Formats: sequence, C-alpha cells, structure tokens
Amino acid sequence: MTDRYAVIGNPIGHSKSPLIHAEFARQTGQDMAYTAILAALDDFAETVRTFQAENGKGLNITVPFKQEAWQLATRLTDRAQLAEAVNTLKFEADGSILGDNTDGAGLTRDICDNHGISFADKRVLLMGAGGAARGVLLPLLQQKPAHLTIANRTAEKAVELARHFAPYGQVEGGDYARLAGHQFDIVINATSASLSDQLPPLPTGVFATGALAYDMMYGKGLTPFLQFAGDNGARLLADGLGMLVEQAAESFLLWRGIRPQTEPVIAQLKSC
Ligand code: ATR
Repeated sequence: MTDRYAVIGNPIGHSKSPLIHAEFARQTGQDMAYTAILAALDDFAETVRTFQAENGKGLNITVPFKQEAWQLATRLTDRAQLAEAVNTLKFEADGSILGDNTDGAGLTRDICDNHGISFADKRVLLMGAGGAARGVLLPLLQQKPAHLTIANRTAEKAVELARHFAPYGQVEGGDYARLAGHQFDIVINATSASLSDQLPPLPTGVFATGALAYDMMYGKGLTPFLQFAGDNGARLLADGLGMLVEQAAESFLLWRGIRPQTEPVIAQLKSC
C-alpha cells in the first residue's frame, strides 16, 4: 500500500510542499503520496490522529500548529525539544510519534551548501525572537559562528531566547538600537515583518563588507529587508525558497532514509 504523507496547516492552499515532495519521490523512486490538509484551528490533534489511523506515515506541520505538534509528539529530537516547535512528525510502527524540527537544518544547508558560505568565525545577526527564530537557533549555533546576536523589537524576548540557548554557543539578545556601530557577516531575517511588507528597524551600518542578507520569507521580488540590505552594502541577497526545499529534504530523509537532490527542485520553483 502506498505510504501517505501530508502537510497540515491553516491556511494551507498555497503550500509548495506537495509539489516538492512529489518531485523528491519521483527522483528517488519512493512509493508515496503527499497531500495538503487544512485543519480547523480547534481540531489539529484529531486531524493528526485520523491521518495516522489511515496509514499516514508522516506529516509536515506549518502555521499555526507547530507548538501543538510539539506537545502531541511522544518523542522529540534535541533540536525540536529546544525549539519547542515541531515541523515534522513521523509515525512509528509501535504507535509512537517522533517530533522533529528541520527548519534550522534547512536554513544552514541552504546557506552553506547552496550559497557556499561557512558560518565558522562569522558574526551572525538573527532578527526576531518568535517561533521562527527559536526554531533555527540550535542548528545555527552548531555551525560555530564567532558569535550570534538576536535582535527583537520587544527586547526582553531576545534576551530570554539568548539565555535559553546560551549553553550551545556565544549568543546574546537585545533591541535593534544597540546594533548601531556593530557589523555582521550574515544577517538573517526571522521576523514576520516581510509578510506585511514591513522592515524591522535595522540601523544602516550593520552589513560588513561582503555580507550575506537572508530573509527566511520568500515571494516574488525582493522583500523590504532584502531591498534595504542591497541598498546598504550587503553583497549577497537570498530569500527563503532554498530553506523551504532544504527543510523538506530533511523531513524526507527522516521518513524515507534517503536524501533527495534539492538543486533541481529549487531551480524548478524559481522558474514558476
Ligand atoms: P513566527 O512564528 O513567524 O516567528 P511570531 O512568533 O508571532 O511568528 O513572531 C514574530 C516575530 O516577528 C517577533 O519577533 C516580532 O517582534 P516582537 O516580538 O517585537 O513582536 C517580529 N516582528 C513582526 N513584525 C515586525 C516588524 N514590523 N518589525 C520588526 N519585527 C517584527
């Protein structure tokens, strides 16, 4: 019987995950089906259980259910445990549910492998202290940057996040104003500002010579952050399309034990 997978969210209509996983399955010859499921806001757990009962083998979880998925999992990987959010569930043969978070690995793979940039000894700025930022912090620190600064409008959230992740590397948090006079080699936008076409209050001088500006959001054209970065000295501008495909590949690996090729799928999505 064909193994079933899906992405669950609300809304879910524009998800690219079914297309990405269909490509991975075709490429690797896996007998699997992958669909998109809209769950009612108060019906996430029931939707997951129904899917599991109907030969579901795994799920991707997207907004706004990543924290609920974290609670629902019966076992967690370290990166999911620390992120307090899960974007991948794997239904094991013994009925247990493994929760993982592949977002951070997707981000670091896209930056290191696809953009050819190493984190070693780099000064990294992560903007935002919500779920998206929390989800990528452990894999970022595991890349051993010289230090990582978290900046957030609500400074206390950045300070608290830095405290939470302090055992894993050089990390500090605060507001945007204190960035003035400091430069960074890699600047990552993990805020939701781009969704509403807004720009976080970033001082102009933060981009070091040759800096990479990375927006975890993606869409047609440059986000306000990438536009700002290009105007203020960043050399490389990247949106989150590569991260989307790479996090999907990490999920696929967890489910199927095989790593699909991501470059052709990224190229295909870029041409859409
Ligand atoms: P997500 O799951 O996408 O991270 P979230 O948990 O609601 O969503 O977090 C949104 C993040 O984007 C927060 O860090 C938020 O800053 P505050 O904590 O100060 O609210 C940040 N954010 C949203 N809009 C922003 C804007 N226009 N400028 C700067 N930061 C913004």
